[in-house]
Amino acid sequence: MQDYDVIIIGSGPGGYVCAIKCAQLGLKTACIEGEDTLGGTCLNIGCIPSKALLHASELFEETNHNFSKLGIETGKTTVNWNKMLGYKADIVNQNTKGIEFLFKKNKIDLIKGWAAIKAPGVIQVNSKTLNSKSIIIATGSKPAQLKDLKVDEKTIVSSTGALSLKKIPKAMTVVGAGVIGLELGSVYSRLGTEVTVIEYLGEITPGLDKETAKMFRRILIKQGIKFILGAAVQNAKKSGNKHIVNYSFNNNKKIEKINTDIILVATGRKPFTDGLNLKKIGIELNEQGQIVTDKNLKTNIDGIYAIGDVINGPMLAHKAEDEGIALAEMLAGQAGNVNYGIIPSVIYTSPEVASVGKTEEQLQKENKSYKVGKFSFMGNGRAKASLAADGFAKILSDKNTDRILGGHIIGPSAGDLIHEICVAMEFGASAEDLARTCHAHPTFSEAVREAALACGDGAIHS
Ligand code: NAI
Repeated sequence: MQDYDVIIIGSGPGGYVCAIKCAQLGLKTACIEGEDTLGGTCLNIGCIPSKALLHASELFEETNHNFSKLGIETGKTTVNWNKMLGYKADIVNQNTKGIEFLFKKNKIDLIKGWAAIKAPGVIQVNSKTLNSKSIIIATGSKPAQLKDLKVDEKTIVSSTGALSLKKIPKAMTVVGAGVIGLELGSVYSRLGTEVTVIEYLGEITPGLDKETAKMFRRILIKQGIKFILGAAVQNAKKSGNKHIVNYSFNNNKKIEKINTDIILVATGRKPFTDGLNLKKIGIELNEQGQIVTDKNLKTNIDGIYAIGDVINGPMLAHKAEDEGIALAEMLAGQAGNVNYGIIPSVIYTSPEVASVGKTEEQLQKENKSYKVGKFSFMGNGRAKASLAADGFAKILSDKNTDRILGGHIIGPSAGDLIHEICVAMEFGASAEDLARTCHAHPTFSEAVREAALACGDGAIHS
């Protein structure tokens, strides 16, 4: 007799959402979590705390730069860092407690402890053995480290330490111009830190539509962030209270140096599978250490599944959630599916950057004929009134059928605007379908419609 239909290891966005869906579909469900609080990286040391600091620092920046333009005279505002950290902690607490509530509401057993899989269907946790028809691994990821730059989470930090620095540093060197480096770099830059980002590649945000990335970099430079591109950080030496970061350009082996207070290592993340006993039970991993799954999210061992950051694909909370829902549906005998071609990605800087579907570079590589419809937020009345007219909305559609193939937005509320393009793509819409949909005036969303119009006869306001 099984204790459970499903046991999920890990309570991040993949695991907890999967648990709720399993319970809703009538499966007897438990979720095992080793950390004290639920929610995994996203809620505790990732998306949610960083969004709290992004929000607070953005408002601080507004008070000092835009309020006066709007006729609001506040005098010089200052930051109470401890209070800001307290606000962040409170938001995290509210969110993690919210999952405990949802688990109770859905009658999901929460088991605290670090789980190891002993055999298919058998899990050991806190010296207790549990049996389950299905086991789902949703253990997420952890920061990847550089060989010669050891993170201590005090002055050489990953995203985890960067979210809880003791004080706002005078200077910060960010290693890697990916999402984490730019979001957290933005936070500290707005709070007065001199931020320098060193990136190995020739452009920031690898994988982003090139034109969008270029515009993004220009905007960040205008905001005061410095970039050193085409250079790899090698190591760092301590010198008093400072670090000397050693880096070299890719085309020149000479070692260059930069002085800094804090080094943020944001060079990617890797799957977290420590202690699960995967090797012993013979679960297949690929070269990147990701668990190999088939299209039904099943590992090479019957009854054991994996979702989220531990498997292939973008390391995004919403991708993990969608896999969790699809897997729960499949385990309940329904047809679950994840449309990997339409997973949006958002960078929560100011302005936000959001994309979905193909980039121009991907379409060119595929030899696909496509149209580009682009509209600058300069032509959007609402963006102008909000002092947020930097950026554009861009839609890529098939040259022959006009079907939308991708969308890229840099500008106000881009992270929300992108979803109308996602929905349109899910329904196989053409750019004309989007352009013919009435959009309320004055809204930022009119820029998306104008971009769709630009795929046809042309935008109205450009
Ligand atoms: P990333 O993979 O996005 O970027 C890492 C960057 O570091 C790359 O551009 C790489 O070329 C560079 N790099 C690597 N070694 C280097 C060296 N020695 N010197 C200079 N540059 C070097 O990784 P990141 O930003 O750490 O993010 C990890 C994951 O977390 C990503 O998959 C990301 O999508 C996800 N994430 C998503 C968020 C969002 O959706 N808003 C927020 C935070 C993280």
